[in-house]
Amino acid sequence: MINDEWLNRWNDRYRHSEYAYGVDPNNFLKDQLRVLEPGKALFAAEGEGRNAVFAATQGWDVYAFDISDEGRRKALQLAEKNQVSLEYLVGQLPDLDYQAASFDALILIFAHFPASIKSEYHQKLVKLLKPGGVVIFEAYSKDHLAFRTANPAVGGPANIEDLFSIEELQHDFEGFSFDFITEEMIQLHEGLYHQGTGCVIHFMAKKQ
Ligand SMILES: C[S@@+](CC[C@H](N)C(=O)[O-])C[C@H]1O[C@@H](n2cnc3c(N)ncnc32)[C@H](O)[C@@H]1O
Repeated sequence: MINDEWLNRWNDRYRHSEYAYGVDPNNFLKDQLRVLEPGKALFAAEGEGRNAVFAATQGWDVYAFDISDEGRRKALQLAEKNQVSLEYLVGQLPDLDYQAASFDALILIFAHFPASIKSEYHQKLVKLLKPGGVVIFEAYSKDHLAFRTANPAVGGPANIEDLFSIEELQHDFEGFSFDFITEEMIQLHEGLYHQGTGCVIHFMAKKQ
């Protein structure tokens, strides 16, 4: 499913003392969490933990996973600094033993899984949500490629098939009730690797 080159890329990125995407939470996530009652949340592809740690400081019971053990190390370091705790697993989703229908929220912030598995991962992840549970999603859209070419500092996948379209997300989260789903140009100032103008899709949706 993932190869060593992909894994090394993320571990190398996270090995340094600086946080690749900063230590502050993503703005969209922060705004959406404000309207929810804290519960049990799963942060997928959570990297160095900026979002998971923020949620934990807001009273959420936080679970996270990623393929990168360097990401986990940095996330636990950030959690300790903020005096919160996280249940953070390293591995690939099919090997992780999460209980079906056990989470109140699923958080996908720049969770750019490789194209060959992204839809399958979404479909596995939705099974972990309780009925009435919500998905909070923000990631680069296919139109982002032009922004990335103009300014590589904004980051994101270099291949169109690794980026998202509204249609594919509506398909992956079929049966959910969408509060909204939009594609927008935004300004990103997140650490070293998300700097500049980008194009994202974001949504909040509830499992029926
Ligand atoms: C752009 S980073 C985003 C990190 C974090 N969500 C954030 O916003 O700060 C993408 C993350 O996806 C993780 N990732 C890539 N493929 C994965 C997979 N198959 N399973 C779990 N995590 C994966 C990488 O290790 C990396 O941490």
